[in-house]
Amino acid sequence: MKFLEIINLHKVYKDKKTEVHALRGVSLEIEKGEFVCIEGPSGSGKTTLLNLIGGLDLPTQGKVLIEGENIYEWKESQLAEFRLKNIGFIFQTYNLIEVLTALENVEFPLLLLRVLKKERRERAEEFLKMVGLADMMHRRPAELSGGQQQRVAIARALVTEPKLVLADEPTANLDSKTGMKIMDIMRDMSEKLKVTFIFSSHDPRVIKSAKRVVELRDGVIEKENDEK
Ligand SMILES: Nc1ncnc2c1ncn2[C@@H]1O[C@H](COP(=O)(O)OP(=O)(O)O)[C@@H](O)[C@H]1O
Ligand SMILES: [Mg+2]
Repeated sequence: MKFLEIINLHKVYKDKKTEVHALRGVSLEIEKGEFVCIEGPSGSGKTTLLNLIGGLDLPTQGKVLIEGENIYEWKESQLAEFRLKNIGFIFQTYNLIEVLTALENVEFPLLLLRVLKKERRERAEEFLKMVGLADMMHRRPAELSGGQQQRVAIARALVTEPKLVLADEPTANLDSKTGMKIMDIMRDMSEKLKVTFIFSSHDPRVIKSAKRVVELRDGVIEKENDEK
């Protein structure tokens, strides 16, 4: 069985006057453990595609099968539970909770999964160490740099040991050197934990660090480079 199958996805955004056809029949297969980049200019449909893969939005047409299961057939509550257990999200703007420390931010998904306090703390500490933040666990987001905040977000996405991590332009707000460091951490973690990683970018240096690159143009997959 394929890990992830994306079949003929279409997404049309409608408002009163206009219709935007953001995805026009995207099909893609991704194996377990792959480290894939969705590459494309602004407006090409990257965020839409990642949101649909993660079940954050519904397509106008098409399916997403994760280990053979059509995620859009589930009830909202089942999908929410599945997301919490199996999918980690990393965003361009980090999306940390400002009033919580780094440690509490990483503990948060474990709290939602009802993991007990002692284990929660130990796991959160372990993952913050893995991303190189052992000394900064008690700082709040405002006391961390952008790159450090994104490391917290990576630890938070991975602490539940999800099957799939979706990262939407994770380096877009970082300088190039910090961005490359973030890519190295994501790649190391994906190898260590055998997690499937799908990220989007339009930064050439970031794109080069992917093992597989899918080019998205105007809602259509143009071509694939799969040389590495
Ligand atoms: N919520 C929305 N309502 C209307 N149009 C949208 C919405 N989200 C995205 N779009 C449009 O869909 C297209 C693809 O957007 P998006 O998926 O955000 O691309 P990217 O992430 O590659 O910049 C764009 O033309 C964008 O303006
Ligand atoms: Mg986007």
